[in-house]
Amino acid sequence: MRTVYNTATSLDGFIADQDNSLEWLFSVEEPEPGSADATALGETEDFIARAGAIVMGATTYEWIVEHESGKPWPYQVPTWVLTHRELPRVGGNLVFAAADSDQELRDLHAEMVGAADGRDVWVVGGGRLAADLARLGLLDEVVVSIAPVSLGGGAPLLDGRVRLRALEAKLLGAFACLRYEVVRD
Ligand SMILES: NC(=O)c1ccc[n+]([C@@H]2O[C@H](COP(=O)([O-])OP(=O)(O)OC[C@H]3O[C@@H](n4cnc5c(N)ncnc54)[C@H](OP(=O)(O)O)[C@@H]3O)[C@@H](O)[C@H]2O)c1
Repeated sequence: MRTVYNTATSLDGFIADQDNSLEWLFSVEEPEPGSADATALGETEDFIARAGAIVMGATTYEWIVEHESGKPWPYQVPTWVLTHRELPRVGGNLVFAAADSDQELRDLHAEMVGAADGRDVWVVGGGRLAADLARLGLLDEVVVSIAPVSLGGGAPLLDGRVRLRALEAKLLGAFACLRYEVVRD
């Protein structure tokens, strides 16, 4: 059971552009269906399908709600949305919560681990949440699919200092995919 920040990013370390758009990501050419690269890229979908709990920040949640409107909430497993606001509830197993201290974030993470029941916790984003979890020793891995584009600004991949040890690197279609473990001080 691991807590894993698994995301796509630009080469210069942004997970959304300055307008909170992911157009730069969706415009990357996908590998041929059925090709080895397409199969390997499916590993991300497998990881998501296997996760037992999910956590994301409010902006990420709002992006999903806006862009998937009319469709059912895409995840079945318990999903924590960190926010200070009353956000619209769109179905699924959603838990809205705020963590304004390290202890509150530790407590929420313990709830997620309990709900995941032996499966992984997927940290969707954003970069401050992931860095906060890493700082508290609660993040095990960072897995990034690097799109062949730089953005020059936007939402940072990791908003804080996090020491990592590389475990795996591979080229999948247009994406460079890297897996790191978080080094605990
Ligand atoms: N490239 C990808 O694969 C990928 C993956 C994930 C996300 N994204 C995109 O990247 C962007 C990320 O946005 P972001 O950098 O703003 O990060 P975010 O984590 O999605 O949202 C940040 C907001 O979440 C709330 N929040 C975060 N931590 C909290 C805490 N401990 N307690 C209470 N509330 C907390 C706060 O909102 P309030 O206090 O205002 O409620 C904060 O302003 C989005 O556009 C998203 O769509 C891309």
